[in-house]
Amino acid sequence: MAKIAVVRGDGIANEVMPEAEETLLAAAEAAGFPVEMKHFDWGSERYLREGRGMPEDACKTLREGFDAVFQGAIGDPRVPGSIVQEQVIMGVRFGLDLYANIRPCRLYHADLTPIKGKGKGEIDHVVFRENTEGLYANVGGLFKQGTKDEVALQEEVHTYKGVERVIRAAFAFAERHGRKKVTVADKAGGLKFAGAIWRRVFEEVRADFPGVESNAMHIDAVAMELIQHPEKFDVVVTENMFGDILSDITSALVGGVGLAPSANLNMEGVSMFEPVHGTAPDIAGQGIANPVAATLTAALLLDHLGCAQGAAAIRRAVEEAIEAGERTGDMGGSLSTKACGDAIRKRLS
Ligand code: NAD
Ligand code: IPM
Ligand code: MN
Repeated sequence: MAKIAVVRGDGIANEVMPEAEETLLAAAEAAGFPVEMKHFDWGSERYLREGRGMPEDACKTLREGFDAVFQGAIGDPRVPGSIVQEQVIMGVRFGLDLYANIRPCRLYHADLTPIKGKGKGEIDHVVFRENTEGLYANVGGLFKQGTKDEVALQEEVHTYKGVERVIRAAFAFAERHGRKKVTVADKAGGLKFAGAIWRRVFEEVRADFPGVESNAMHIDAVAMELIQHPEKFDVVVTENMFGDILSDITSALVGGVGLAPSANLNMEGVSMFEPVHGTAPDIAGQGIANPVAATLTAALLLDHLGCAQGAAAIRRAVEEAIEAGERTGDMGGSLSTKACGDAIRKRLS
């Protein structure tokens, strides 16, 4: 029995996660793969109630009792700043040392992309985002806060270990999945220290994978070329903040963040799965959010647990529902979150 910890999260997460959970359970059952879910109320409500978004020992609970974590977006306008995101999102990513944030984006229908002349499957990227350091290491501080002399410092941290393991994971993934190319997106021609370590470690690791085509590009050029020539890219590996931005760009190429799943992996430990999108306060509570990102995230989770049949069934059902026009508003349709979830489940076989 695979044990999944579920953190529903805030805002639209409370609308899309129940759909994705139901679909996950149905797909797993149809595949004869027993799973059990336990819910945790971590997030902004809990922060407002108790002053902490999740307990101090949350990661110990996850490590010791579960095979995977299924997490919805976190963030609530009632809590300004980043405190709950730091406690829960970064708390879990850092606490479980989830060093590779894998964000795949595949085009499911020609009418979902703003790019001319691209059809189903013709845009297909996987962003490997370093997930435990960079600007998110939160090294820095505020000085003379609240005065005209205020200084904000946010330092980047890049360790050999951190850079090497995510680049190696990207190449290993490319090799395993028959992907044709790995591109590193860095800033070697601008950032003296961070750029140098990324470029040097990339050169070192690529030598171990002679069968995988690879190249190095500057992050700004990648941002432009992803839109002009998306076919030039396959797997893109990059540092934490660049990867945050690039993965919103790759999701825009296939219909937006409402369709983009992600896996936060530690190859040796418990991994966490969450959609790329946030809590969408602008549409929360209306029942119109797209459940596809969370549902495709459930497929990544099942794949990771070894239920490839359930994962494939979910992807096929999503593809068929989109093809049939059974879509929420962001995909050009008019279905509610619930109706879209039902349409996907109806097609599970
Ligand atoms: P967002 O992803 O929540 O919203 C950006 C835009 O995309 C909005 O117009 C929104 O309506 C739309 N959108 C997002 N998900 C959608 C879906 N499933 N269906 C249809 N439309 C969707 O990003 P934001 O507005 O920058 O952030 C809102 C909050 O979410 C903030 O508190 C932020 O910190 C948090 N956030 C959390 C995560 C996470 O938990 N991993 C990720 C991103 C943002
Ligand atoms: C994401 C989000 C988070 C990040 C925020 C909410 C902290 O944008 O998961 O992409 O920057 O990682
Ligand atoms: Mn983001």
